[in-house]
Amino acid sequence: MRTAEIRQKFLHFFEGKDHQIVASSPLVPGNDPTIMFTVAGMVQFKDVFLGFEKRGYTRATTSQKCLRAGGKHNDLENVGYTARHHTFFEMLGNFSFGDYFKRDAITYAWEFLTSPQWLNLPKEKLMVTVYASDDEAYDIWHKTVGLPAEKIVRIGDNKGAPYASDNFWTMGDTGPCGPCTEIFYDHGPDVAGGPPGSPDEDGDRFMEIWNNVFMQFNRDEAGVLHPLPKPSVDTGMGLERLSTVLQGVKSNYETDILASLVKAAARETGVAYTQDQPSLKVIADHIRACAFLVADGVLPSNEGRGYVLRRIVRRAVRHGYKLGQKGLFFHKLVADLASAMGDAYPQLIEGQARITAALKAEEEQFARTLDIGMALLEKSLEGGKRTLDGKTAFTLHSTYGFPIDLTADICRERELELDMAGYEKELAEEQERGRAAGKFNAAANVEYNGNDTIFEGYVANSCEARVLALYKDGAAVEVLNAGEAGVVVLDNTAFYAEGGGQVGDSGEISASGGLAALFDVQDTQKVKAAVFGHQGKLVRGTLRLGDTVTATIDLHKRLATARNHSATHLLHAALREVLGTHVQQKGSLVNNERTRFDFAHTQAVSAEEIAKIEAVVNHVIAQNYPVSATIMKQDEALKAGAMALFGEKYGDEVRVLKMGQFSTELCGGTHVQRTGDIGFFKIVAEGGVAAGIRRVEAVTGEGALAYVQDMEREVKRATQLIGAQPGDLLGKLEKLQLEQKALEKEVAKLKGKLAASAGDSLQDQAVEVNGIKVLAAQVEGADNNALREMVDKLKDKLGSAAIVLGAVAEGKVALVAGVTADLTGRIKAGELVNLVAQQVGGKGGGRPDMAMAGGTQPEGLSAALASVADWVKSK
Ligand code: ALA
Repeated sequence: MRTAEIRQKFLHFFEGKDHQIVASSPLVPGNDPTIMFTVAGMVQFKDVFLGFEKRGYTRATTSQKCLRAGGKHNDLENVGYTARHHTFFEMLGNFSFGDYFKRDAITYAWEFLTSPQWLNLPKEKLMVTVYASDDEAYDIWHKTVGLPAEKIVRIGDNKGAPYASDNFWTMGDTGPCGPCTEIFYDHGPDVAGGPPGSPDEDGDRFMEIWNNVFMQFNRDEAGVLHPLPKPSVDTGMGLERLSTVLQGVKSNYETDILASLVKAAARETGVAYTQDQPSLKVIADHIRACAFLVADGVLPSNEGRGYVLRRIVRRAVRHGYKLGQKGLFFHKLVADLASAMGDAYPQLIEGQARITAALKAEEEQFARTLDIGMALLEKSLEGGKRTLDGKTAFTLHSTYGFPIDLTADICRERELELDMAGYEKELAEEQERGRAAGKFNAAANVEYNGNDTIFEGYVANSCEARVLALYKDGAAVEVLNAGEAGVVVLDNTAFYAEGGGQVGDSGEISASGGLAALFDVQDTQKVKAAVFGHQGKLVRGTLRLGDTVTATIDLHKRLATARNHSATHLLHAALREVLGTHVQQKGSLVNNERTRFDFAHTQAVSAEEIAKIEAVVNHVIAQNYPVSATIMKQDEALKAGAMALFGEKYGDEVRVLKMGQFSTELCGGTHVQRTGDIGFFKIVAEGGVAAGIRRVEAVTGEGALAYVQDMEREVKRATQLIGAQPGDLLGKLEKLQLEQKALEKEVAKLKGKLAASAGDSLQDQAVEVNGIKVLAAQVEGADNNALREMVDKLKDKLGSAAIVLGAVAEGKVALVAGVTADLTGRIKAGELVNLVAQQVGGKGGGRPDMAMAGGTQPEGLSAALASVADWVKSK
């Protein structure tokens, strides 16, 4: 049975048991900072289990793409060495949200696996485990299903802590969890390994195929278990493992999809297809993880998810290298994957070019250092050392981009020890150096324990306020005097504090209309999450704690900033429309002059695409949509389609910023009231900032006007300067270019003529030495070609002669020697030219009758030429 068919069968079975079929969620969990990747089918239902979210169903079934690399659930190290571990895999699951519990979960699982109507697996090949104290599950297996006692193994807390057990499943360090029962398939005695709970359970003989978790608790950060609102069920069956069983093979890598990728890996690395080569399996596994990660918006980088992706790509590339493939190969497997899995995951086909390009870029980057890194590694092992020292491991990591688990993988392969403690020491020292260097940049830490600041700046440009705290040189003070710089905290303010990419406001804080005190606010920064610090200088008077003041922002600057900020949202939406929905914000900076927006995209944005993006944004501006901000519960906002940033932590209540139907984002910034306020939007720069990250800069409103006016002024000046008619700058430029080319040709011709006539006068400088006419002279302004022509002409004119001419241009010497045919028996042009060349720091050669040379010491040229006559005399 093909994998695709198994996937469908599972979903249909549970659909028949009133389960809603739900699509797989992305590998990057939406808005859940507690885990890096989707590690199981239940991840997308986490909030439903916790009772935070209600869906229109209480039973669901999915085939979920999962990734277990980095973090609590990590199988990376095992991949390639067992028959059943993967980084990327598909998990079939059925879920009950406070609906059925243990009894139905177990009987459904048994029915699906063993009923002749469904998978029809032989019962005697199956055995199960239950959590040691879970008598209920034990009884259901034993009494209801009828499994003999010797086929039911109880497993307790076998991982060193309460609830740390193979039979107690937890999503991450926190989150839904509960006891579980696992179903195993016995591959038979010819495969090594023992039953679960036995000392050799890690072998491949007994393979866990299905885990049924009885979700009962939520584990908090302190490790305390709190009962869930309703007991629930979460199950997970590895699709690849099930394929292994149903396709009658012994390893996941022999099943239809993975075998095709192992074959592709063999083809691209130039080795014969075999199932016995771990490296081929590593590559086959890793191409799936890497391609799906890129498809879901992750790009290789040095931190977080991006670093996990980088580690997986590099591990695969190193295994290719080990097989002898030193060129780029890994990205080529994307096409094989797209044809193997594109039916079920069309994103692989739609994104094929982009995924290939991203992986190729990472491969290229690593290829530059892999070879030298490997050489360094080999060198450190010279003399038959069996331990790779920590310093080398660290250098490999920091200088040659070898993630530590890649180095560990090499050590494991060669049965070497890795000095992990030494590596960690080096790493810690490096981090300490980094921290020490960073200290100087740390913002002044002021102590503040008072009330939060109420922000009125969404609606007001100015407000009455009371001074809650004052700081001078980072220390709290009661008074600020004229001329002193400091920080002012108010009970409420119209000033926006820098955040979400938008710069802080500037303006003024005044008491008694500025007579008692006038504080010039240069910037507003957060002292704490909801406490704003106005930074600046007291220009006049005195400012005391408790004073009543008026806080007024620089409205002109604020409005310009708001235009740029609103335009940033439109730009983000337009980029997704024009370039694709893989575009994700990676950073932004918005001030009153421009907006700078970084996003994930692997290629330069073409001029055509930029023009399209500008057109889309300006069109939306012209529609003059209203801009609205609504405070909502976070989940409602996300459901309403608001764009939120990966890894960004938002509070329970979020502010949803909407511009017509075109853009919806979570944002705390200050914005225009209608899109028309933005005026005109113009992109002024596009470039790359890191691998896979592009940056676009744009201007709006007055800034855009100033940009266009500057450009126009420049064009006008250029037009005047070259004397073109207005509107005919290009025509005139083309004409000038043609003229210049013609002039250059003319100059070259004249130079030749000049040199030739110089040759005429040279003729007279020939002297007789031993009956031979010798001419050695320096000429001005001739290049090699001109010199050669001159030598030829002089040969004709002198009839029988040995000639050497030298010229100096740009600090270098050019030399040409010629000897008429009647004399080449006595004097060779090559020798003659070298005689001179050697004295000017050069060397040359050629035929006996014509030779050329160069030199680097023009100061020696005249003496060298003067030596020629003596040399001929000695011949
Ligand atoms: N969430 C459970 C697992 O991943 C089913 O094993």
